[in-house]
Amino acid sequence: MKYFITTAIDYTNADPHIGHAYEKILADVIARYHRTFEGPTFFLTGVDQHGQKVQQAAQKNGVQPMEFAKKITAKFLALWEKLGIQNDGWAETTDLRHKSAVRKVLQSLYEKGELFKAKYSGYYSVRQEQFLTDKERNDAGEFGPEWGEVIFLEEENWYFPLEKHKRWLKSYVDSHLDFVIPAFRRTELANAIERISGDLCVSRPKERLSWGIEFPFDPDYVTYVWFDALLNYVTFAGYLSDGNETLPDFKELWPCKAHIIGKDILVPAHGIYWPIMLHAMGFSDEQLPRLLVHGWWNVAGAKISKSLGNVIDPDLLADKYGADALRYYLMRDNVVGQDSDFSEERLLVRYNSDLANGLGNLVNRTINMSQRYRAGILTPAPVRDADLEALQQLAGSAIERYREAFERFEVHNAIETVWELVTRANILVEQKAPWKLAKEPEQAELLDAVLYVLAETGRLISLMISPVTPRSSARIVEQLRSETASRLEWGGLPSGHHLGTPSPIFPKIEPY
Ligand code: MSP
Repeated sequence: MKYFITTAIDYTNADPHIGHAYEKILADVIARYHRTFEGPTFFLTGVDQHGQKVQQAAQKNGVQPMEFAKKITAKFLALWEKLGIQNDGWAETTDLRHKSAVRKVLQSLYEKGELFKAKYSGYYSVRQEQFLTDKERNDAGEFGPEWGEVIFLEEENWYFPLEKHKRWLKSYVDSHLDFVIPAFRRTELANAIERISGDLCVSRPKERLSWGIEFPFDPDYVTYVWFDALLNYVTFAGYLSDGNETLPDFKELWPCKAHIIGKDILVPAHGIYWPIMLHAMGFSDEQLPRLLVHGWWNVAGAKISKSLGNVIDPDLLADKYGADALRYYLMRDNVVGQDSDFSEERLLVRYNSDLANGLGNLVNRTINMSQRYRAGILTPAPVRDADLEALQQLAGSAIERYREAFERFEVHNAIETVWELVTRANILVEQKAPWKLAKEPEQAELLDAVLYVLAETGRLISLMISPVTPRSSARIVEQLRSETASRLEWGGLPSGHHLGTPSPIFPKIEPY
């Protein structure tokens, strides 16, 4: 069974911003960790191309929805390439394979009596294209100006029953404590389940919205965008693909180890609609996925939005600082599950202090000194030295804690553990001052031992940080010539190992 993880699929109504980038990087880091240290992994991400938002954005730009969606999709694809996102599957909801599987799901739900047609009448906002309930009324009991023109409308649509599955969902969530991570989000979901009432409207009449997947048994309707989009997690994993060889084998992937999503789409989409959909489709409780819910990146405490003009472009940041520096910053300055505040100054501080002065300096000094004093050849001399032994011991415990942190999706803790090693190894350089040892022939063995411990620590660090900074780690590995030493345990570099040529990986960037 492969380790299968996914992210939310991004709307193709506007350009990608730092929030989208954060989520894909988080998923990529977790996927890379598993691929490198645990075994076969499948990471699925993609784009949400249907629905009203995309249709409206296309209209505004005077092009067809498909053309618009494709253009934005290309931007996402280029950004993921630039940021080193290594996804195994790519989900585009206009993909014929997806559309065909969605129709099969609709047909089978219909046959099971899990879809019904009903007339609904009520107040309707023309601008927002949605029915309004009393919840939308303001304190004066009116629908505010944000809803634009409000009319009374009667419309027939297809409905998916939610309320009838409420008791099942409640007991499922109460008895599966790790369905939602972190735990405080589970509480939020449990409260929302109590409030479930009514059914979910899963169709839109074509005359109002045409940009969607047509109903197989009622061609005047298209599928509600969330119903279509949520299904990407199974359709691109091979569900109902009739053995289509361009898609994975569903049995090998499902159930998903983690759907990585933002806090805004837990309730109701992923926490209520999605499990109920899977349950109604016949998935057993053991076949349900787990939700890893992350927080939001804000700017100076405010939500990122086009209208506030505070949108941060990850593409520009990657050009300016490098993709790895951006990946490192986003993973290091965020506690998975909590919100964070984006600051370019902070990115620069992190880059200079952690990457340039910390890791870069350690690797550079280690290889430089080995070249200067030992022609780049390592000899692990059997010297007993408390400082060296302490660093080796720390490496052992850091590896353990690093693995545990990843198992709990605590990427920030995993990175902190690696940096304990970086800091202690840099301190060791100062403590042992190899440049002094090199002048004292009776310290030759100690010098050998110090250089070995530093190089081996550097090897382990480059490996442990590789999910976060893959391209820089590959360069470190090249300079250490440690390609064949990829095990995450002490002693990978053999005696007589020949180090390569040092060259700065993270040159210091002067503040502008
Ligand atoms: N298309 C839907 C998801 C369908 S999944 C079946 C959607 N798209 S989105 O483009 O609006 O958001 C995609 C992901 O980016 C969501 O998980 C969302 O939480 C995340 N983010 C959007 N803005 C964000 C921040 N400012 N910070 C962190 N992540 C945020 O929702």
